[in-house]
Amino acid sequence: MKKRYTITAALPYANGPIHIGHLAGAYIPADIYSRFLRLKGNDIIFVCGSDEHGAAIPIRAKKEGISPQKIIDKYHTIIKKSFEDFGISFDNYSRTSSKTHHKIASEFFNDLNNKKIFLEQESEQLYDEKENQFLADRYVEGECPKCNFDGAYGDQCESCGSSLNPTDLINPKSKLSGNKPSLKKTKHWFLPLNKFDNFLKEWFLKEKKEDWKINVFGQVKSWINEGLKPRAITRDLDWGIPVPIKEAIGKVLYVWFDAPIGYISSTVEWAEKEKVDWKPYWQDPNTELVHFIGKDNIVFHCIIFPSILKASEKYILPTNVPANEFLNLEGRKISTSKNWAIWLHEYMKDFPELQDTLRYVLTANAPENKDNDFTWKDFQAKNNNELVAIFGNFINRVVVLTQKYYEGKTPLVETFTEKENDLLDKVYSYPEKIGNSIEKFKFREAINTMIDLARIGNKYLADEEPWKVIKSDDSEKVKTIMNISIQICGILSMVCEPFLPNTSIKLKKQFNIKNTNWDSINKNSPVICEEIEKSNLIFRKIEDEEIELQLEKLNESKK
Ligand code: 2FM
Ligand code: ZN
Repeated sequence: MKKRYTITAALPYANGPIHIGHLAGAYIPADIYSRFLRLKGNDIIFVCGSDEHGAAIPIRAKKEGISPQKIIDKYHTIIKKSFEDFGISFDNYSRTSSKTHHKIASEFFNDLNNKKIFLEQESEQLYDEKENQFLADRYVEGECPKCNFDGAYGDQCESCGSSLNPTDLINPKSKLSGNKPSLKKTKHWFLPLNKFDNFLKEWFLKEKKEDWKINVFGQVKSWINEGLKPRAITRDLDWGIPVPIKEAIGKVLYVWFDAPIGYISSTVEWAEKEKVDWKPYWQDPNTELVHFIGKDNIVFHCIIFPSILKASEKYILPTNVPANEFLNLEGRKISTSKNWAIWLHEYMKDFPELQDTLRYVLTANAPENKDNDFTWKDFQAKNNNELVAIFGNFINRVVVLTQKYYEGKTPLVETFTEKENDLLDKVYSYPEKIGNSIEKFKFREAINTMIDLARIGNKYLADEEPWKVIKSDDSEKVKTIMNISIQICGILSMVCEPFLPNTSIKLKKQFNIKNTNWDSINKNSPVICEEIEKSNLIFRKIEDEEIELQLEKLNESKK
């Protein structure tokens, strides 16, 4: 049955370029899922945008010596280009500095404020006397009270994922002056998460969630069971969306209040362009809302944002939040400040035609259930031993043999033997197998199944040896072998689309395939073409020297 889906991927902070950890954590899985559901003929909207508020932006601006506006313009452009380069098929990529977003986020605040949802409270907050500024969120760092990681932010510890208040930090230090902050009274608006306790227990713990990933379910369950506290959703900062009420002049909305609303603003922006109604995508209970994020964002998407949506009384709640764990690089945590990362815009300079290779490796090695490691050697091995030696080799052999024996025309076959029919049944069962894994967010399993199909093709050719049969003059047999092999290539060209979109475009052109619907790939309407184009190899080998260069580049960062 066709369904409506709203699929979101975490809005990246526009305070720097994006790296492979971002792609592996949220964007590639979200893209595979969206592409697959589109190919199944569902009504989907896949949205994202740059997260342009919060302390992260002015901190970066200070570091680069330019204005926060220049920072967001610079990185929004770089990030958007990287997503395009890697084929992330957003229906809309917006930004939270847009007028539409400011308006929608302010309306959310006003609506909840009018419903008397918020608590207004004076409290003592960390203050930098030298810089005359309150130290919200990333403006302060210190030791995490939960895991003792030294370098936790004022709102969150990236090491254990705990959500914090600046005053929770042990030995806090201002990021501006390096000084020990003092305490100063200020008024803020709080979301009383404690009052959402029953709702969260009902919605999250009771209603479902068994089909959610264990890592997500476990984290959320323990937060709810620990007892939730009110959380400030305003800040004393001069960068962000002004709190839209008189009593709060000089204050802005907390970035984690406005950022998830950015998913809605991005949908509204898309709907305006497309001249369609955005509301069913966010307000119709039949719509499935799926958030793709990294594990550090779980609390915001499973507790805070659902509470905001619930309080608004109009919006649907997420059906699933398939958060990934983290990707490490060569055994170390990816770190922007230590330049320990593979930046996507730099990868594009070094491997301008190998976007699908990176997508492949990051999917086959995705940190789905535990943190995982990316190594350049594994990248080379997966490319050379799987994409080139299995997938590419099979396609190439079929193209070359069909050119040689039949001038590129697919030989017709009247009947197949029982054994051949069994093989055809088997290969046509792959789209469903792969689809089932994608629907369960098991993208590693899905891509391995896709490669298995190419393996079957290779083995079939190796077992049947058409190059020998042709010498024995059994021309009907050769026709059958090539016909079946071409059908497997046809299936591959379609099922690889969610994972390897550029490869799929090339293969569909080469095999002249017009089908665009996943469910149309079946034995009764074989994926077959009349003519196959000659063309270059679809993948290329990666040489040792290329990998050495990348390792040297990384080692420079260690110095
Ligand atoms: O962690 C981050 O990079 C945040 N900018 C993610 C925001 S996701 C959403 F809610 F907008
Ligand atoms: Zn911690």
